[in-house]
Amino acid sequence: MVCAAFRGEGVSRLILLYILQLIFLLLVAVYLYLTWINLQLTRRKDRVVLLSSDRKKMGSQLLVLLERFAGDPAQMHFIELGAGFAYIAELVAKRWPASTVEAVEVVSPYAWLGKLRLLLSRAHQVTMKVGDVLTTKDYPTGSVLYCYLLTDLLDQMYQSGSLKGCLVITLTFPITGIEPAAILPVAGWQKCLYVYDFRATPSVLAS
Ligand SMILES: C[S@@+](CC[C@H](N)C(=O)[O-])C[C@H]1O[C@@H](n2cnc3c(N)ncnc32)[C@H](O)[C@@H]1O
Repeated sequence: MVCAAFRGEGVSRLILLYILQLIFLLLVAVYLYLTWINLQLTRRKDRVVLLSSDRKKMGSQLLVLLERFAGDPAQMHFIELGAGFAYIAELVAKRWPASTVEAVEVVSPYAWLGKLRLLLSRAHQVTMKVGDVLTTKDYPTGSVLYCYLLTDLLDQMYQSGSLKGCLVITLTFPITGIEPAAILPVAGWQKCLYVYDFRATPSVLAS
């Protein structure tokens, strides 16, 4: 009887060990798959690899900038362009729960993992979409766009007119030839946040 109980315990431990091994292998496979996708991105000029904004170093400064430039941040429409796993969108959503927050990411697996992460962290307010920032042109007027993309991509977005009517905050990479409304240095190697205010019409600027 005692022997059977021990055997039962041994079997359930073995099953648990197998399940843990399976989870471990699954996580390794996901990690390798994401690394492979990132390597593919380095070959494309219309993409940027996934590298997260260092929230510990720039998160509080971003919130300060939003308080200063976004009007009433509690009412803003915030969009993270090229969102990766949407950490910045989550940060903003948790700070201003009444705001509208979106995250746009071109690589579907990143977007799915982002959705899962947002679900687990209960950031239900964030809408995560799969989309290419180079072909999207209809951000709602007055939106606040955050991005950590390359100057080349930002220049293309600017030239295509997709940033028109929006407040743009970009980490590290400025838009070529456009004077920022503000530059805020951040600690670490991501250097600074640039603010561009394209919300005002030229006639408003002139007056
Ligand atoms: C440097 S990471 C920034 C991630 C995140 N925004 C952050 O700050 O932590 C750039 C992200 O933009 C995505 N991306 C690159 N090109 C894109 C494009 N054309 N449209 C949408 N997303 C793009 C990449 O897949 C990657 O996840």
